[in-house]
Amino acid sequence: MSPPRFELDLYRQRRLELIQAMGEGVMVIAQAPEVVRNRDAHYPYRHDSYFHWLTGFPEPEAVVVLRAGRRPRQVLFCREKNAERETWDGPRLGPKAAAELYGFDAAHPMGQLDRRMLRYLADQPAVYYLIGRDSAWDARVIGWLNALRAQGRRGVRAPQQLIDARALLDERRLVKDAHELALMRRAAEISAAAHRRAMRAAAPGRYEYEIEAELTHEFRRLGAAAPAYTPIVAGGGNACVLHYVANDQPLKDGDLLLIDAGAEYAGYAADITRTFPVSGRFSGAQRAVYEIVLAAQAAAIAEVRPDRPWNAPHEAAVRVLTQGLKDLGVLAGELDHLIETEAYKPYYMHRTGHWLGMDVHDAGEYKLGGRWRPFRPGMVCTVEPGLYLCARDDQVPAPYRGIGIRIEDDVVVTDTGSEVLTTAAPKTIEEIEAWMGGR
Ligand code: GLY
Ligand code: MN
Ligand code: MN
Repeated sequence: MSPPRFELDLYRQRRLELIQAMGEGVMVIAQAPEVVRNRDAHYPYRHDSYFHWLTGFPEPEAVVVLRAGRRPRQVLFCREKNAERETWDGPRLGPKAAAELYGFDAAHPMGQLDRRMLRYLADQPAVYYLIGRDSAWDARVIGWLNALRAQGRRGVRAPQQLIDARALLDERRLVKDAHELALMRRAAEISAAAHRRAMRAAAPGRYEYEIEAELTHEFRRLGAAAPAYTPIVAGGGNACVLHYVANDQPLKDGDLLLIDAGAEYAGYAADITRTFPVSGRFSGAQRAVYEIVLAAQAAAIAEVRPDRPWNAPHEAAVRVLTQGLKDLGVLAGELDHLIETEAYKPYYMHRTGHWLGMDVHDAGEYKLGGRWRPFRPGMVCTVEPGLYLCARDDQVPAPYRGIGIRIEDDVVVTDTGSEVLTTAAPKTIEEIEAWMGGR
């Protein structure tokens, strides 16, 4: 199914604006390669986020070339039509149809890339590309420069500047347009539905992977391509392993289950964490820790609004979490001193969020000119405080040992404040117990 027309105009418009921002020079961005998993089996194909943002063109083996300056030009290189390969692997659009459908001034077969790049790059001041992402591409670009230098006596000048294309692309990807926000909203809805399904599926004796299967079932059932990252399904103390992905243990009555899972829909990620009791009812100790993390998250979300600096949500969360650690008897001392000396770090060792978009940890700087950058409308981030009270830590009062809790939502900055995209996943103790009570 080809994407609706308005989307394709949108990609062309993005490229036009980028060409204007470049001023001069040539940008060249390659589509992601297909990657062999073992022998002749491939990993499921995933496009390159930058290439997709620029084109929407879904086929592998493609390159986009943008020339700025007096003679601006948008060019696509892609696979030629090939009746035999299309029988095995599905249709290829071919350059002619691709140029028309995807709004390029011209398109050519991939086999002509090296020859034509010498023409595009001759006498240009600069090449923009994703420096250092792929050493084969680094070598290819350098090869073009060397080939042009070899023509020096014929009066051809090679570009003298290599510029990291991320400098221009990342700032644009950071602020999402209405079309992107619509896709992110859908990714968030699908992911929230999967968390609801997982809560109802959890029960003592079931395995973490069974719950993972419920999540991925719901992702695919609702049209998401795949998880946006490997789901974390961590029962009890496994929640204290931040990147736990084994997901192979049985769930125990009386334990919590931490699930960090989000879908990728039409190229955009959601990223949700919920922590809930396997039994459906929080214990007193679990409740105490949960309310602290929930309050920290509310304080952090309140700091996501235009003009507040990136670090404000983190600072707000750290303050509530540290006070909570005092209240639980894990830490003792004066609050500001505990924050200043990072006494909370053994129990809260990660940051409170990250940019979210096509990549789960999305493009965009966090500081500008050495200072935390201000939030602007259209930016999307996660807010994900947690407390991890490790079972082996004898600083932790016995009732709280082995409790790991994180609560993560996806938040878009609006003109006046923020909007949480992931509210459909039950979050308060009352909401979770009511939802699980319906099992
Ligand atoms: N799921 C990855 C993260 O929360 O950052
Ligand atoms: Mn996250
Ligand atoms: Mn996450």
